Amino acid sequence: MSLSPFLLVSAAFASALLFSVFHAHRRRSSRFPPGPTGTLFGGMASKISATEPWQQYHAWSQQYGPVMSFRVYNTRIVVLNSYRSIHDLLNGRASIYSDRPYSSMLHDPNMCNRGKTVFNISAKHPRHRKYRKLLQGGLSAKATKEYESLLVDETKALVEGLAEMPRMVEWLVRRNAGAMIMKVAFGYTIADRNDFFLEGAKESSQISGKAMAPGRWLVNYYPILRHVPSWLPGAAFKRQANEWRERFDSLTDAPHEWVKERMATGKYTESFTSKLLKAGVDGRGSLCGEDENIVKFCAAGLYAGAADTTISALLSFILLMALYPAVQERGQQELDSLFDDGHDQESRYLTLEDLDRLDYLPLVMKEVLRFACVGPLALPHEVTENDIYDNYLLPKGSTVLANVWSIMHDPELYPDPFTFNPDRFIPSSGSEKISQQLDPCVVAFGFGKRTCPGRAFAEASMLLTMANILFFLSIRPACPQVPSAPLQFTTGFTR
Ligand code: HEM
Repeated sequence: MSLSPFLLVSAAFASALLFSVFHAHRRRSSRFPPGPTGTLFGGMASKISATEPWQQYHAWSQQYGPVMSFRVYNTRIVVLNSYRSIHDLLNGRASIYSDRPYSSMLHDPNMCNRGKTVFNISAKHPRHRKYRKLLQGGLSAKATKEYESLLVDETKALVEGLAEMPRMVEWLVRRNAGAMIMKVAFGYTIADRNDFFLEGAKESSQISGKAMAPGRWLVNYYPILRHVPSWLPGAAFKRQANEWRERFDSLTDAPHEWVKERMATGKYTESFTSKLLKAGVDGRGSLCGEDENIVKFCAAGLYAGAADTTISALLSFILLMALYPAVQERGQQELDSLFDDGHDQESRYLTLEDLDRLDYLPLVMKEVLRFACVGPLALPHEVTENDIYDNYLLPKGSTVLANVWSIMHDPELYPDPFTFNPDRFIPSSGSEKISQQLDPCVVAFGFGKRTCPGRAFAEASMLLTMANILFFLSIRPACPQVPSAPLQFTTGFTR
């Protein structure tokens, strides 16, 4: 009697699954940070809230303590709910806390093959250092200055659009963020509607979200499943991965090839990509295949990093200005006072240089980033060695989440945390620009070797946009008579 190949393969995978569940349980130890236990097979997989999990983690931390953990299938998830633990581990021990959790579905070369993107690459991979260097250089405060005229042009388009079609605010802000970053990354001007490259960049982000969706792909918890042949019944995930891999490749190639074609004609707008293609990764003008691929991946990371984050912050800013007219007026007075010396204020849009003379509006931006925090769990990190913290074992391979939302609403750091109040950041005494409350930017932009490389660019471009909006427009609720309801945000990596 002979067993069919299908039965043999199934039996082999079933044994492998059982072994790895058993192994995960054997490793369970009372020394792990405490937390809820869940079921034998999935742990807490089916118990994690699909909406606003940070609130659930925050509630659990009240019961189990600021450093808590639980299991999802065979992976330990550690959630850090205090600024002290986040800073101690993700910044203080960055050499072992700066990896990303491995997602077989997304990262594996035989699946979606996105393991080498800026966001996903291991901090130990030699490319990681190169990416960081290029991104930090290309998005520094100095480099941002070089993009000033295009930033001002795009801000002007947004302000004019808002004046003309105020009810299209969300669409206009989304368009503005996409237009700005496509110009910076590729020197590309987007079309008014359904832009080919912009839609492609959005599609890449959406597919990444689907491939990483917690609990959706068993292969993310049991990577051995990636060897299942795609023709097997039940291997639809393999066929999906093959399809997405091809799509990812063509979406990443398209804008890069476009820049090269434009450069060959000699008529192109200088951009992050064109500058690097000319100068070379090492600054000596030599660009071989590997280095060109690095440039392509860095530029692709710009849209992924900039778009949804900036959109979230700007939409929250507009909403909060409508709800807090006193803050808005104070911001406007400060902007008007820039022209007290008699310069004609009607004739021009504010520039990056004007921003250096502002004291109050930068505090409003900080409070927006705190009160309406953009990324409530930042992005997940992975610890690459067994580590001991506060007498708990954080085992190698654990996913480590920073509960940014919890920090931003910690009453010890921010008294009365659910009140929107930029004054909380007013320096306490003298001319020193030091506020007593923690600067939310040190939390909002992430940690360790993964800290957002776009921070300088983001702060400058957002402040420029906020300043010009308040300088030229006044924001009011469309229906002031609607009774005030509690503010609600959408859920996801960004809100
Ligand atoms: C409000 C604006 C922004 C916020 C709140 C923000 C926040 C973040 C956070 C929390 C991370 C993950 C850090 C970590 O894993 O610890 C990140 C990563 C990143 N951000 Fe930003 N970001 C913003 C704007 C931007 C902009 C404008 C760009 C580019 C122009 C950008 C590019 C990136 C990139 C490339 C990464 C990946 C870094 C890596 O994995 O090594 N971000 N950002």
